[in-house]
Amino acid sequence: MIAASIADFRELARRRLPHFLFEYIDGGSYSETTLRRNVEDLRDIAPRQRVLRDVSALDLSTELFGQRLSLPVILGPVGLAGMNARRGECQAVRAAEAAGVPFTLSTVSACGLDEVAAAATKPFWFQLYMTRDRGFMRELLAEAREVGCNALVFTVDMPVPGSRYRDYHSGLAGAPGIKGAIRRTWQGAMKPGWAWDVGVMGRPHGLGNVMRKLEGRTGIEDFFAWMRNNFDSSIAWADLDFIRSEWRGPLIIKGLLDAEDSVEAANLGADGIIVSNHGGRQLDGVPSTARALPAIADAVGERLTVLADGGVRSGLDVVRLLALGAKGVLLGRPWVFALAAQGQKGVEHMLRLIEAEMRVAMTLTGVTSIADIDRSILVPEAGQPRAARP
Ligand code: GLV
Repeated sequence: MIAASIADFRELARRRLPHFLFEYIDGGSYSETTLRRNVEDLRDIAPRQRVLRDVSALDLSTELFGQRLSLPVILGPVGLAGMNARRGECQAVRAAEAAGVPFTLSTVSACGLDEVAAAATKPFWFQLYMTRDRGFMRELLAEAREVGCNALVFTVDMPVPGSRYRDYHSGLAGAPGIKGAIRRTWQGAMKPGWAWDVGVMGRPHGLGNVMRKLEGRTGIEDFFAWMRNNFDSSIAWADLDFIRSEWRGPLIIKGLLDAEDSVEAANLGADGIIVSNHGGRQLDGVPSTARALPAIADAVGERLTVLADGGVRSGLDVVRLLALGAKGVLLGRPWVFALAAQGQKGVEHMLRLIEAEMRVAMTLTGVTSIADIDRSILVPEAGQPRAARP
């Protein structure tokens, strides 16, 4: 199948990946209500079709945190992403560079900071969680600085992981020891393309940045145990001082859904925030990003850079989030599906699809630059879903 859409990449990923890996990316928490809402609320937003406005010269570039981007799109942090293709994050960072957009490396990536830095030719972004071990955080921040990361994404919506039923059903979670390992190995063996590319040729399979803490324990359950035991639920706004003092570059706080919290982030001097519900993977039932974003953009859009993620399945969706107040949009599942399907080439292809669809959306809403995209390109009447109303 030639992928014409993100949905096609999802299907290609489903065919190629062991069941437990596909379910980990694809799934959300509990009944997956927020996961669905992210997609549906965004899809419900009606763009305002305008014609005959000379839109022959489109400029999709933008500037974020002093960096010039070809598109207002960022490959967002995704844990375990590198398990979906051979040394996956190294392939993804190269695809992002080719497209002129930032790549964000997750703390819990397969390839560590040093390996991704060796594969990259330009700076990339790094994502960090608050862990109990502040020394470990300090080490990671020092390493991120050393390898030249040019933005820090600090995730605050995961003091505890949300329960994802699919991970229990697939054998990724809650199946410790040999039983779980046998199930996952069997699922891997059922997918020979992945088994060769990643299972055999893509070793080592640990989490590059966390490995040093696990002292030889390398089973996937060791990593999940580490995550459960080390994420810090005592984190409070005052702890951001610790991050600020260790990190001088752009600081972007990820996982805000509430306008009052976003004002706190601005008061603390964050350079940016990411309006996000963690792709519907944390507190199920919270509002979609599309619904939360306008009030947040109104509250702090003049004080810091508002980014958003969640539910994006096309370039039109990127334009919708920009219209609702985001200055840039992070992609999660779309790039991981594309990576799983076709490696670096797949991610490059997916980004070309996003760009092409953004061009159609901009052309038919009558705007020629990213700065011109605002709520005026959405249908204003009462029929518009609440997500699009201020
Ligand atoms: C980690 O960030 C996850 O959502 O699993």
